[in-house]
Amino acid sequence: MKYKRILLKLSGEALMGNKGFGIDQERLMEYAQEIKTVYNAGCQVAIVIGGGNIFRGIQAEKGGMDRVHGDYMGMLATVINSMAIQSALEGLGVHTRLQSAIKMEQICEPYIRRKAVRHLEKGRVVIFGAGTGNPYFTTDTAATLRAIEIEANVILKGTRVDGIYTADPEKDKTATKYETISFDEVYSKGLEVMDMTAFTLCKENNLPIIVFDMNKKGNLKNLVEGEKIGTLVEM
Ligand code: GTP
Repeated sequence: MKYKRILLKLSGEALMGNKGFGIDQERLMEYAQEIKTVYNAGCQVAIVIGGGNIFRGIQAEKGGMDRVHGDYMGMLATVINSMAIQSALEGLGVHTRLQSAIKMEQICEPYIRRKAVRHLEKGRVVIFGAGTGNPYFTTDTAATLRAIEIEANVILKGTRVDGIYTADPEKDKTATKYETISFDEVYSKGLEVMDMTAFTLCKENNLPIIVFDMNKKGNLKNLVEGEKIGTLVEM
């Protein structure tokens, strides 16, 4: 196995499947199955999931809501998605722990780095909810921060596209995919991989990012085993 400890970042929108809002149970179960295969292979898995299928702070701001207020609502949305993933995984017999950056002790544990690492070592999938617990940060930043804190080998960004392209492949048919690309090239070419805060945090801490298609069955397992899938961003 190439990666012993991973942080898997999933978008909230991905959980919608073909629905316009909320959680598609079928998609949720597919993701849980994919995660189970790497878990069964002995990989230590941490997960951060967004909340955009339920609430987006930035859009609420455009509608007149206070940004900070909206961001907190978004953080709560990530906890709902985290609970859904937790339940789906447990249904498949995968041991999990959910930790939240905002205390909600009736629902989950508070985020404690050393406990999170212990859970991973004991073979539990750890899900981090409520982002970083602070407004003005994205779940990509939360994922990066947690990945660095738990010393994950890599951050795996599961998306709808199978990597980073020279241009938007949905708009430009001549766009080609990078197999690997350096952090500096991403900056200089102005490519969008993550928001700048998250991306810079990865670079400064030498944390590689792999962008890959989470909707393709077997991708996650093959990636963890070292197959070249998606695009690898590294020094
Ligand atoms: P180890 O002692 O390292 O094996 O970890 P553990 O998670 O099994 O021990 P712990 O006694 O901390 O947790 C037992 C169960 O209670 C687990 O399902 C935890 O997720 C849960 N739990 C622990 N702390 C909290 C909390 O603050 N709130 C909630 N809701 N659950 C908690």
